[in-house]
Amino acid sequence: KDTGKGGYDHYMLKEINEQPTALGRSVRGRADPEAGTVDLDGFPPGTFEGIERVHLVAMGTSYHAAMYAESLLASRGVPARAFMASEYATAPPPAEDGTLVVAISQSGETADTIAAVRAASAERTLVVTNVVGSSLTRECDDALLVRAGPEIGVAATKSFSSQVATLSLLAERLRRDVVGSPSPDAAAFLSALTALPDQVQQVVESGAAERVADSFADSEAYFFIGRGPGHAVALEGALKFKEITYEHAEGFTAAELKHGPLALVTEDTPVFAVFDGRDGDTETLGNVQEIRARGGPVVAVASGDAPDVADAVDHVLPVPATHPDLVGVLANVQLQLVAYHAAKRRGRSIDKPRNLAKSVTV
Ligand code: G6P
Repeated sequence: KDTGKGGYDHYMLKEINEQPTALGRSVRGRADPEAGTVDLDGFPPGTFEGIERVHLVAMGTSYHAAMYAESLLASRGVPARAFMASEYATAPPPAEDGTLVVAISQSGETADTIAAVRAASAERTLVVTNVVGSSLTRECDDALLVRAGPEIGVAATKSFSSQVATLSLLAERLRRDVVGSPSPDAAAFLSALTALPDQVQQVVESGAAERVADSFADSEAYFFIGRGPGHAVALEGALKFKEITYEHAEGFTAAELKHGPLALVTEDTPVFAVFDGRDGDTETLGNVQEIRARGGPVVAVASGDAPDVADAVDHVLPVPATHPDLVGVLANVQLQLVAYHAAKRRGRSIDKPRNLAKSVTV
């Protein structure tokens, strides 16, 4: 019987492979790289005049998209903070004029995220969601759709990539309205965003992730490190890995390692390090050396044009060269594939992991 998996063994793999299409839908008609402008339906230039800061609230994978967006906004001069929605709901920051609350939720039904929006004393609320007509579209003043298409696998994959793409467009719109001018490299950034679907296609076609998953089949724990957007990707890489393999996996900022987690590093704890072509890569390389000095195997997720990285690690999961703000999206696809193949090897219930639900509405 046709289960809707379209020839794939699992919905998760199908959805990983659908990312080029989903990303294309998120970006198409919304970015004009030549003009360096963003055209978001319902959010014309000037929409966010008067906004002074952004609070991003979300849970799970969507929280990692919120962290990613926090980095994108901050580097564009827009004050932003990502909050775990449950924490925001319990202790919302004091009311301040000019605050925009952006809820991020694939389903639009997550109870903690709804609670955060209800608790917010913000001037304006906006939801970035995949589901038209969901509860959060009714709770918030505005809705921006990510257009990833239906996602069946409990472990979120294509919705994350499309959330980041959509939040990238929103970040440019906010930059224009809050700072008063577009980002200096808006054209390059939007052109990289437009090229992302083809580059994700290259990543899903390379067999590198399966080989890496196979070489670490019996490890004790799996760690993930990165900085900036790469930190969000490290947390998301670890979340995906633990959700579907049931192995111990943890993500950290690379700098945090020496403040504790390094005590856990042994030759049985592979570390995945995200390099995104920014200045921080030099420090991350230093962290990698500290790991290897303790016998820890290191897998770099890095663009092919980083030869110093390749020489310093055990394996490389390559990603095509792109704008530094978007390397994380490509790196995350490699980590999705590592988690998938690791879980498949272990015979796990990939589409419906034990104890987890697609949407937590209570
Ligand atoms: C559940 C799902 C996660 C998801 C999270 C937030 O925990 O298992 O995959 O990231 O809810 O869901 P939302 O629909 O709000 O993005």
